[in-house]
Amino acid sequence: MSIQIPRGTQDILPGTVEKWQYIEKVAKELCEQYQYKEIRTPLFEHTELFERGVGDTTDIVQKEMYTFKDRGERSLTLRPEGTAGVVRSFVQHKMFGQVNQPVKLFYTGPMFRYERPQAGRFRQFVQFGVEAIGSDDPSIDAEVISLAMELYTRLGLKKLKLVINSLGDTESRIAHKEALINHFKPRINEFCHDCQMRLEKNPLRILDCKKDRDHELMATAPSLADYLNAESSAYFKKLQHYLTLMGIEFEVDSNLVRGLDYYNHTAFEIMSSAEGFGAITTLCGGGRYNGLSEDLGGPSAPGIGFALSIERLLSALDAESIELPAEAVLDCYFVTMGEQAKDKAVELTYKARKHNLSAEMDTLNRKMKAQLKSADRLKAKFVAIIGENELSEGTSVVKNLESGTQENVTFEKLFDYLKQS
Ligand code: HAM
Repeated sequence: MSIQIPRGTQDILPGTVEKWQYIEKVAKELCEQYQYKEIRTPLFEHTELFERGVGDTTDIVQKEMYTFKDRGERSLTLRPEGTAGVVRSFVQHKMFGQVNQPVKLFYTGPMFRYERPQAGRFRQFVQFGVEAIGSDDPSIDAEVISLAMELYTRLGLKKLKLVINSLGDTESRIAHKEALINHFKPRINEFCHDCQMRLEKNPLRILDCKKDRDHELMATAPSLADYLNAESSAYFKKLQHYLTLMGIEFEVDSNLVRGLDYYNHTAFEIMSSAEGFGAITTLCGGGRYNGLSEDLGGPSAPGIGFALSIERLLSALDAESIELPAEAVLDCYFVTMGEQAKDKAVELTYKARKHNLSAEMDTLNRKMKAQLKSADRLKAKFVAIIGENELSEGTSVVKNLESGTQENVTFEKLFDYLKQS
């Protein structure tokens, strides 16, 4: 039997890859306008980075990481997300010392999680994400959220829902944590093993549990919103003020808890509300992580960011029946008759490409009719036909496949003619 692709991964073939390239292009242009610079970090890191960064009680770290020992017995992990690696790099390269602050970065690349594959959930998926590190002003939270919304909007999505929440600062979180422990402790034996383990260490994660989500104590659990101190509330209000100024609609959902431990203050998600979109409607997730730099051995450097997967973005585009613009890519197809004409086409195809034109010719020695069909399928703008007569006259018959008009053009003038048309 032939070897198949691993479960939860996909080949992105020509015909589809153009959509990815288009999205990446729009995202890059957007980042330029917002002044975010690209960063590329390794696909694998020391396992400890994610244990400390993402948090060792999270599903990601406990169940979903691709962790392996290399030949030097070091524990390494394929990155399940991008933030920990970016902040590690920020600390390692002392970006906190740069003149331009905050440091605004973006990345695009594969992430790996051992999850149960289903529509919109892969084991290898591509995230586009941004991180702004070095400012704890709510205006940058609003900027980051607006960037995510703007990307979706530019691509044509309309059925979007932005949900925000505040997870508060350390003081608020400690108060809430105690309230959660008191709430669940008397009946913790009715919960799954994972939740029992989470109770003392990270009871907030219990609210995120998929197994126990219908337990009656879940609905009555103390809400973080009631434990926010004055400073955290003021921060959250200011964020909402800025979003309103930008004209970005949002909902506040005090039940929004994200699946990673580094968050505080702002947490947000963007969902698709398009009909026919599968069960997994979250397109994008992000939030503030003010203690992460310190957790990774760096100085205090408050940050905020988000990540979204291209896979889910494509599903959302499908659900709203949005076609991304496909650019015409072939300027000229050389159609030849006879060996000498083929010699000329080899020369002209090569030279056309040197002139920054996209050019193609037949390399299967097909009949003229088949060559013309090929040009049509490749959506060539022009075909240049070369036969014996044309060769002796030093011209080719150049046909515009869109308008159907044709002209004799000399070989010398051919490239200028193709460029001007
Ligand atoms: P996350 O919520 O784990 O956050 O993932 C962000 C996004 O990645 C999701 O909203 C979804 O679009 C996509 N995603 C996650 N898992 C999968 C999967 N198995 N298949 C397809 N897409 C998936 C983070 O990763 C944080 N690092 C975001 C962040 C950046 N927070 C601050 N800065």
